[in-house]
Amino acid sequence: MTKFLVDTTENLPQGYLKNITAGGKEILVVNIDGNYYGINNICNHAGAKLHEGSILNHKELVCPWHAAKWNIKNGELIWFPQKLKKQETYQIVIENNNVYVEI
Ligand code: FES
Repeated sequence: MTKFLVDTTENLPQGYLKNITAGGKEILVVNIDGNYYGINNICNHAGAKLHEGSILNHKELVCPWHAAKWNIKNGELIWFPQKLKKQETYQIVIENNNVYVEI
């Protein structure tokens, strides 16, 4: 596993949807209630960039194109009219106020 710097904790306030490219993947990182989560930023339905969506109820990531709802914490689909495979998620590590994603 390789660790990539995302940003500092000060630059990732509650609910801010940060997108980075690391290890050849597009990754969304978000701080929810002081916990950080990483998920593949490309919606596996039709390719929307999820950081252009929004967060509901402290865990639902809403896709900006067709409103699929993803569980930001584990990548599971919460709602969509058809079955979709789960979004890949990534471990986030905090060290010295820096936020890293492990891939
Ligand atoms: S691209 Fe995300 S729901 Fe269609």
